Amino acid sequence: MTDKKAMVIFGATGDLALKMTFPSLYFLDKEGHLPPEMVILGVARAQNTDASFAEEIQKAVKQAAKADYSDESFAHFAQRLRYCDGDVTQPAPYAKIAEQLKDTEILLFYMSTSPDFFGVIAQHLRENGLIQPQSRIAIEKPIGHDLASSRLIEASLSQAFPEERIHRVDHYLGKDTVQNLIALRFANMLFEPLWNKDSIEHVQITVAETVGVERRWSYYDSYGALRDVVQNHMLQLLCLVAMEPPANLDADSVRDEKVKVLKSLRPIGAAEVERETVRGQYRKGYTESGAVPGYSEEAGGGNSDTETFVALAAHIDNWRWAGVPFFLRTGKRLPTRTTQIVVQFKPVPHSIFHQSENVPNRLIIRLQPQEEIALEIMNKTPELEAVRLKPVALDLNLTDAFRTARRRIAYERLIFDALKGSTFLFVRRDEVEAAWRWIDRIVDGWKARDMSCLPYTAGTWGPSSAFALTERQGYSWIE
Ligand code: BG6
Repeated sequence: MTDKKAMVIFGATGDLALKMTFPSLYFLDKEGHLPPEMVILGVARAQNTDASFAEEIQKAVKQAAKADYSDESFAHFAQRLRYCDGDVTQPAPYAKIAEQLKDTEILLFYMSTSPDFFGVIAQHLRENGLIQPQSRIAIEKPIGHDLASSRLIEASLSQAFPEERIHRVDHYLGKDTVQNLIALRFANMLFEPLWNKDSIEHVQITVAETVGVERRWSYYDSYGALRDVVQNHMLQLLCLVAMEPPANLDADSVRDEKVKVLKSLRPIGAAEVERETVRGQYRKGYTESGAVPGYSEEAGGGNSDTETFVALAAHIDNWRWAGVPFFLRTGKRLPTRTTQIVVQFKPVPHSIFHQSENVPNRLIIRLQPQEEIALEIMNKTPELEAVRLKPVALDLNLTDAFRTARRRIAYERLIFDALKGSTFLFVRRDEVEAAWRWIDRIVDGWKARDMSCLPYTAGTWGPSSAFALTERQGYSWIE
């Protein structure tokens, strides 16, 4: 077998590739994690030479890497870069790729394109004999628009690649804190005995962003927050919080447990959507960056009912979680950039302290704005006159604890693993389908009930009904 190796990136000049894929590859190269002889072939419609492509990548890498950029390491990285232009729906570029990668072992095809092209690209790769026995394919979420369209994509992918060589990317699984959740739960004796309905009152998962949809409007408008973030990132977080201990750390053992959680999610359909979900869309307002336009103004005044905010109450119908609500909330143009999981424990069964002093424990796993895990426990204040208690955070600030380590882009680990052939951090087909099945029910319920978006002012925490959603059950959102 030849020593020459390659990774091929489709959609190589798109937003995602420039912001994430290439900067991640740059860091992997800088730290010596890429196979020495591996070229990176970018494929896109735009006309470019190898040199002009490398210049475009350099600009993007500089912007993403900031202080960690160096001309010297980019020069090393640039030697790997090649470019091939063409329309990926036509046969022409594939013949060029075959020519450029003659006698080369192709390790990975990376799809940074719209999901509409996944199937057609896989088909052309197969027809042009570009798929070698070791070649893998990585595809980005969302895989399809619903269960039916995801199955169509999967059908064409599975004709070209076996399941164990398909890497479905959900970049949340590349985040250190998300992986740490598995360590926290299963490498510590402290939590597991309490990790169930007897000790946990409810769980909240928030993915709040201050940005709007801006230039991504044309993609976003046909997806909305439920499909863009809940179907994938948030359900993955929910699975990692709720799953049973896997038999071991094999990719399939973990994924088996995640699928069981997805299958235990109580369906939210037409009869439940009004009670269990809230849809919102931002109107103009103020955020930390000043005055911002509303969603429909960003599209040039178009009329759209796509949600930019969702809140919902999920229930997992199994023994561990019976009666424990999981509140999920995500939105654009919210007041802060916060991504966190809050595990709210129950109050002690009998308090010897004054009622108002009895604040139940809370575990906060924070991904944004910085990665930290904090356990709020009750402490006595150092007063003489009275016994007073106050929740104090046992705070494990991961950014501080690993201060010398650069905070990696989530994609670095995912690309590294895909190149090595590890599927642990990737989503299996049945996970994607189980998630779509649950999401499709909600979408159908919204349609059946004619549930259009409630407006919220940019810079606020969504429509007021989102507060009513938790308060009806006696809880409040934790900011
Ligand atoms: C992407 C969504 O998958 O995740 C975006 O398409 C969203 O709309 C992003 O902004 C959030 O990711 P992160 O890592 O910035 O929290």
